[in-house]
Parts: sequence; C-alpha cells; structure tokens
Amino acid sequence: MPATDTTALKQQAGAFAADLVQSGMSIGLGTGSTAIHATRRIAQRLTSGELRNIRAIPTSRATEAAAIELRIPLVSFADCQRIDITIDGADEIDPALNLIKGGGGALLREKIVAQSTDRFVIVVDESKLSPRLGSLFAVPVEVVEFGWQSQARFLQSLGANVIMRRNGGEIYRTDQGNLILDCDFGPIGDAQELASELNARAGLVEHGLFISLAQQVVVAGNTGIRILPAQQ
Ligand code: A5P
Repeated sequence: MPATDTTALKQQAGAFAADLVQSGMSIGLGTGSTAIHATRRIAQRLTSGELRNIRAIPTSRATEAAAIELRIPLVSFADCQRIDITIDGADEIDPALNLIKGGGGALLREKIVAQSTDRFVIVVDESKLSPRLGSLFAVPVEVVEFGWQSQARFLQSLGANVIMRRNGGEIYRTDQGNLILDCDFGPIGDAQELASELNARAGLVEHGLFISLAQQVVVAGNTGIRILPAQQ
C-alpha cells in the first residue's frame, strides 16, 4: 500500500475514534502516527466548542508536547482517578484483539494508561491485522540498563531473536531512560503464557504484549471503517 494511502487510512481511523469522546470526559492520548490524528481531531473539536471540559493524560513525552501545542488541557494521575476513554495505536492485532505495541517506544506509559481506562480504543489501518501475534512485528521489551545482557539471554532462551533498539548510531532510550530489546519470536503460540513469563522476570520493566486490554478496534481500510468486535 502506498505511504500516502496508509496516512489517509490512519487519519480516518483516528478521526473516527476522536468522535467517540464526549464533553466532560477524562481521556488518554496515545502515541504514534495513527493516534496523533485522534489527538488533532480532539483539539479541533475543543477549538470549535463542540467539546468542553476535557482533561487528558498523554502516554509519552512526544504526545505531551503535541497536546500542549494543540492546547489540550492535561492532568496527571494525581488529579484523575479513572480515564473514561483512551485512543491509541498498535503494531499488530490478533482476532481476539490482543496487541503488540511499543513500536514508538512508549509501551510502559501506554500500558499504565490502558490499565486505568474504562474504554481502551485502538486505531489502525488494516495492515496491522494478523492471524497470530508475532507474525508481523517483534515484541518490544523495555529493560533497565543494569543486567540487560542477562535479560537478552533470557529472551533468547524463550525463542526470540533479540535486537537492541538503536536510534541512528545511539542506543535508544525510553522516556524512563531504559533500553528496548526488540524480540522477534515469530508467530507466538500462546501470547498470554509468554506475557506471564515476561511479567515474572526482574529487570524487565514492561513488554509490548497487551492481552485482553482493548475493548474496541477501529480499522480503516480501502472499503471504509470497520469496528472490531463487529457491532450487532
Ligand atoms: C507507541 O509506542 C506504539 O505503541 C504505537 O502506538 C504503535 O507503534 C503504533 O504506531 P503507529 O500508529 O505509528 O503505527
């Protein structure tokens, strides 16, 4: 699919989900090239007066900067007990709506926000749909720097081909200052079981398997918008 088509589909998915936001809501703002379209559309609706009294929690420093520029009112978890709706992107989605996230490196904050959200809505173009997680994308794993080689060996022992993420020549750092190991497991037999094994490992801060968190996925394709699970 040409890049411009993909950009248009991302824009359609983001704008559709942004229209689910209602005045008075607390919202989570996702990270990435699809979620930014939702953030921009929310800002437009605020500027036009169609939306009022919104408070937002961003999932990364990049999204925070965008929200400030777009004049979306931000709050922290100190002032927000529960988030009504979060709109975020994903790198891969299976038929049960389990996800791989973290291509943009924001997986930890994204998961914290998702777990505090009543309605977690994912926005994607249809290239992200997959029969089995791991078929399209490596699982990003955020690790502390101390002992990272031990975590890399542990991940290899689970069957992953492990690559430390870099940004140009530099080691990539997350918003928390940690490292990311991109772990290509190939198609994953039991993503829930793998997530449990990763959760149990010290030094491994978070991983990009988002199991049973997404309530809805807005998929933009060449034939239009679809909502998963399919509406009755
Ligand atoms: C950010 O860390 C990610 O989880 C993104 O939400 C994910 O990589 C999807 O990004 P795009 O919408 O840019 O493909």
